Amino acid sequence: MIKMKNLTLGYKKEKILNDVNIRVKKGEFIGIIGPSGAGKSTLLMSITGGIKVFNGKFEVLDIDLENIKKKNLIKLREQIGVVFQGYNLVDRLSVLDNVVSGMLKDIPLTRAILKLYKNKELEKAKEYMDIVDITKHSLKRCDELSGGQRQRVAIARALAAEPKIILADEPVSALDPKSAKKVMEVLKRVNEVYGVTVITNLHHLEYAKEYCNRIVGVNGGRVVFDDNSEKLTDKLVEKIYAVN
Ligand SMILES: Nc1ncnc2c1ncn2[C@@H]1O[C@H](COP(=O)(O)OP(=O)(O)OP(=O)(O)O)[C@@H](O)[C@H]1O
Ligand SMILES: [Mg+2]
Repeated sequence: MIKMKNLTLGYKKEKILNDVNIRVKKGEFIGIIGPSGAGKSTLLMSITGGIKVFNGKFEVLDIDLENIKKKNLIKLREQIGVVFQGYNLVDRLSVLDNVVSGMLKDIPLTRAILKLYKNKELEKAKEYMDIVDITKHSLKRCDELSGGQRQRVAIARALAAEPKIILADEPVSALDPKSAKKVMEVLKRVNEVYGVTVITNLHHLEYAKEYCNRIVGVNGGRVVFDDNSEKLTDKLVEKIYAVN
């Protein structure tokens, strides 16, 4: 569902990632690791069509991303859920409202503002809140939640749009280890239950090894490792984090 062939990506005139060759199949759970500034976020966000393609072939969900047209960009982004470190929730709204807002494409604005949700929408929202284990807080305002809980709400909201791919840029780096593990477990569950492809940037190598099936290591704008997690030896870890 994602094909990158001899791909060079960057911003304006600056090339950041060079000669990237990655193919992603449906249902994979991939962790991207590497030192700060390596190009992890650029690589991840390029999948939403927002990064300039200098060279190569780039296809996501059968859409060509080189010189992508606005109509296709909208179509692409409807199928991709994005979870950030900063959560991006509406703080003064409840957990439930935030999750339902993920379905906004299907709910007319007036109904959403008045919170006139249909039973089917509420059932769906409950399903997503259950899977991230936040249902017991469904009526709390998001600003009353812990960081880990908020991140789980963000995942439920992303799921509500029924995406084919979920991208998570450092979803756990602001969390304590226990909350971080819970968020990683939730991402894994979402991946397994719905078959959603999950790609996540991780600062902690240990989480990538424990939860991801495949690891992509980036260093200095190049992919220096791409294989099953168990193939990652200490020597290869050194190569991924080497200072240039
Ligand atoms: N919007 C932008 N415009 C221009 N250059 C950028 C932009 N965003 C990032 N860069 C540059 O691209 C390079 C890679 O940045 P990127 O954010 O992808 O790295 P990263 O691996 O995610 O780092 P970190 O671990 O710190 O998040 C850096 O040199 C950075 O300065
Ligand atoms: Mg980053």
